[in-house]
Amino acid sequence: MSIQTLTILDNHYQESNDDVIQGLTQTPKSLPPKYFYDDRGSQLFEEICDLPEYYPTRTEAWILSQYADEIAQITGSCELVELGSGSSTKTRILLDAYQKMADDCRYLPIDISGGILKTSVVELQQKYPDFSIQGLLGTYEQALTHLKSSSSQSRMIFFLGSSMGNFTRQESDRFLSQVAHASKPGDYFLLGIDLQKPQEILEAAYNDSQGITAAFNLNMLSHLNWRFQGNFNLDFFTHQAIYDQVDHQIEMYLHCQENHSVSLDILNLKTSFQAGESILTEISRKFDLAIIQKQLEVQKLQTLKIWTDPQNWFGLILCQAQ
Ligand code: AVJ
Repeated sequence: MSIQTLTILDNHYQESNDDVIQGLTQTPKSLPPKYFYDDRGSQLFEEICDLPEYYPTRTEAWILSQYADEIAQITGSCELVELGSGSSTKTRILLDAYQKMADDCRYLPIDISGGILKTSVVELQQKYPDFSIQGLLGTYEQALTHLKSSSSQSRMIFFLGSSMGNFTRQESDRFLSQVAHASKPGDYFLLGIDLQKPQEILEAAYNDSQGITAAFNLNMLSHLNWRFQGNFNLDFFTHQAIYDQVDHQIEMYLHCQENHSVSLDILNLKTSFQAGESILTEISRKFDLAIIQKQLEVQKLQTLKIWTDPQNWFGLILCQAQ
């Protein structure tokens, strides 16, 4: 891997060490979902995407396969910037459409997990020799700041898989404003969001029968153990995901079944759990298309077109910066 194909954005874990301390010292306890994605966590997430109960990935991939050519036609050739690219598997559907159109394509995948980013950049560069591909290792925030000094070429930022579901309403406003600031008038933003649906379908998707989601959730504690020299005992914790029908969000918890003292030496943090105490590790919001359109509009991101699947389970919104 040459240095030109992967840019490491400074200290991409540093900025949030405070988040861990804050989350574990407040009541109720919580942790930021970005700690799911060490290399093992990214691997487990790939496995989640293939689970029979986890409909979002295949539903979004279906929408992309139906409409990628139309999306490429609307935007024309542009610099493609993906936030949270992971393995870039679904992205290939879009890259195929753009490759048909132009031969000077640029693709910038951004991810927080170095292992999966490196592997996918190498693979994609082989599969798409006409593309100039540059990976950015860092957080969304770092990437959007880095991107501000934009080229003259038009750009499409895309954010698939309903990763925006991890943000509270307030966090998503802030995020969308950062997207808008990284865009020139006329630039595009493509957003994939999971839509509201019956509780049973949602809870099954986050409590799969093979226990992969449970392993993914627990892996966050292993990640914290190695990154911050911690001593979480994974045997004490159990996974649960519940759907809050009022707030329209899945909430993922780790419940601690024993009294447990935890220290994270690198953070100089000591905290204790009472038997029965929980950590909220993730919210995954389920969206309403009309509401999200208004939220985008406030940031001067105007909806051009929305695509969904026949069951209306997932939505793909193409916007343009004003
Ligand atoms: C990557 C945040 C979109 O919320 O569905 C999957 C993460 N967590 N199963 C989601 C996740 C548990 C996923 N996102």
